[in-house]
Order: sequence, then structure tokens, then C-alpha cells
Amino acid sequence: MIQAVIFDLDGVLTDTAHYHFQAWQALAHSLGIAFTEQDNEHLKGVDRLGSLRLILQKGGLTLPAAEEERLMARKNAHYLQLIAGMTAADLFPGVRELFARLKQSGIKLGLASASKNAAFVLQRLGIAGEFDAIADAATVKHSKPDPEIFLQAAALLQIAPEHCLGVEDAAAGVTAINRAGMRAIGIGQPEQLREALMVFPTLQALDAELLLTL
Ligand code: BG6
Ligand code: MG
Repeated sequence: MIQAVIFDLDGVLTDTAHYHFQAWQALAHSLGIAFTEQDNEHLKGVDRLGSLRLILQKGGLTLPAAEEERLMARKNAHYLQLIAGMTAADLFPGVRELFARLKQSGIKLGLASASKNAAFVLQRLGIAGEFDAIADAATVKHSKPDPEIFLQAAALLQIAPEHCLGVEDAAAGVTAINRAGMRAIGIGQPEQLREALMVFPTLQALDAELLLTL
């Protein structure tokens, strides 16, 4: 029986995954590196430095740390511009209803986001107060697919991993959930999220009653 659901943020609760893609693509193109949505699938859920290095690797580049810092700052400034106007209207449809249904059944809610911008995005969406525990890039050392962030959220919730579900749109995130000993719910396309227990095309399509039977 599940006792907690731990959500990823970008691409699960709101469409920031697309803004991350746009900002990384602009950076890649400025370096003369081709970067498609297909390439972006490998970056989803991966932290900022890890993402930059995947792009550089694709272009056959290795750069000194100071240059990596400069490029990450440039990408983040662009990303912040893209999300500056976000409001509660940018929450994906069905999020509030799902949270309410889970809470009504006594299920705890956690957040596990690899983003250093997570607190800002939660605040813009008006949902910062909805979670019983938040683990983000400010509190963990190891990036997804390492299980640390999901394990930290479960520890904060004081719920054993086997009683937690994780919800993710990224292959790296699904791997992290499985390595944490939790069951993984994918949001997106099944062929990108093969390791998930079940996959729904959107958060709104996620069947809360089915989750409550797990
Ligand atoms: C994850 C996103 O949630 O956060 C990645 O899926 C992103 O695309 C990562 O790179 C780090 O985000 P930030 O905001 O710290 O650059
Ligand atoms: Mg995500």
C-alpha cells in the first residue's frame, strides 16, 4: 500500500522541460553543435553541469571549468527569462485535483527536483506549500539517475521507499526511482520510459484511483 507520492517538477507538474530544451538548444547552436528534441531526452532530469557536458561531448569539446561556468550561467540566464512570466496558470491540468485526491486518502506528497530553480518555479506556480517534503539540487550531492534525491525525499517524509511512488518524465529519473527501491510512474512516451511500472501520456491522464491500489 502506498503512503507517499514523490513528484519530479520539470515536465511533470509544469512545462519547464520545454524551456530547458529551448535554452540548451540555443546554447548548443551558438557553439555549432546540433541539438534536437531526441538529444534532449538524454538531458532530462540531469543536473546543469551534467547536461552541459553531454552537449559538449556531442560536439567533441572539452572545456576548462571557468568556461563551463560561463556557459552554464548563460544558459540559466536564458532559462530564467523564459520562465519569468510563469504563473499558477502554467501548472499542468489535473495537478491540483490529483494532489487533493491523494491528500484526501492520507497520502503524503514529496518533491524531488534536480533543478536549482525549483524553489522559484514552485513559488511562481503557487504550490510551494503543497508538499510535506522537498528535496532539490540545493540539498543533494548526486544527480539522477543516482537515487539520492528520491531517498532524501522519503527520509524527510519518514516513509520507507517501498511505500513510495515516484513520478517522472525523464529516463534518468525513472532509473533513480527504481534504484531507490520505489515504484516508478512515467509521464510521457512509453518508448522513452521503458523502466517505468506504468506510463501515462500526461499528468492529467494519470489514474489516481489506480495509484491508490498500488
Ligand atoms: C531538471 C531538468 O529538473 O533540472 C533538467 O529535467 C535540468 O533539464 C535540471 O537541466 C537542472 O536544472 P537547473 O534549473 O538547476 O539548471
Ligand atoms: Mg523532469
